[in-house]
Amino acid sequence: MDRLNSVLDDVLSKVRGVLVKDPAVIAAYEADQVAGQAAYDRALRKGRVMRLRKAGVPLMDSAFKVLEDRGVGGFADWEITSVARRFGLGPRRILVLTGDLGRGKTTAAACVAFPRMERGRPGVVYVRERVLAKWLGSYRHDREWDAAIRCATLIVDELGTAVSPQDQERARMALLEIVDDRMNNDRKTVLIGNLARADFDARFDRRMIDRLRDIGVFHEDLGASRRRDGGDE
Ligand SMILES: Nc1ncnc2c1ncn2[C@@H]1O[C@H](COP(=O)(O)OP(=O)(O)O)[C@@H](O)[C@H]1O
Ligand SMILES: [Mg+2]
Repeated sequence: MDRLNSVLDDVLSKVRGVLVKDPAVIAAYEADQVAGQAAYDRALRKGRVMRLRKAGVPLMDSAFKVLEDRGVGGFADWEITSVARRFGLGPRRILVLTGDLGRGKTTAAACVAFPRMERGRPGVVYVRERVLAKWLGSYRHDREWDAAIRCATLIVDELGTAVSPQDQERARMALLEIVDDRMNNDRKTVLIGNLARADFDARFDRRMIDRLRDIGVFHEDLGASRRRDGGDE
């Protein structure tokens, strides 16, 4: 296919050379192509931002603007952001992001979802863990649960905030079940919490920990590596 394309390119450029000799005309044509592509890319990003907003991903307006203007590359290269960008392109399926408030966890999750919006319908589902737990096994929430299974990127935020032991147990079950249900196809899940690796391991099922080891990435933001003085801020 590549070879065919290069042969076609060759022929086309020869034909163009015969038909249009004026370099200014050729330059104008090419500039048009570039501008057209830029407009197309921007419209695509705008559509994705709309869908992120509709899904309720809680970013600030300024962050949505970054995505619309420049995509995920528009954010500064914080470690957590870079981890998320790489994860979005790679083969692993579960990303766990932990760290304090304001560390860029939710933004990083949005960076995973953003380039993947057209791969599932819906492209992204954002849900807090304690809400996901309520959806589990409740026919009233069949549609939400179904969307959470089918979407290209599922973001489960505020891991570990369920308080009562029953709620914690439900949250644990919901998480395990949803991760299992999402095993096939090109689906990625981002789990976000403010808990250390040891707490995570204590809280979750052995099977979940195994899954994570096999197909996951665990990123714990301990704060030392992230600089607030650099980049685009
Ligand atoms: N890579 C980045 N570059 C610049 N600003 C960022 C980046 N990641 C996050 N931010 C900003 O930092 C703030 C906190 O980000 P957020 O994702 O909400 O953190 P968390 O979910 O960990 O509380 C927000 O204002 C967000 O826009
Ligand atoms: Mg957050």
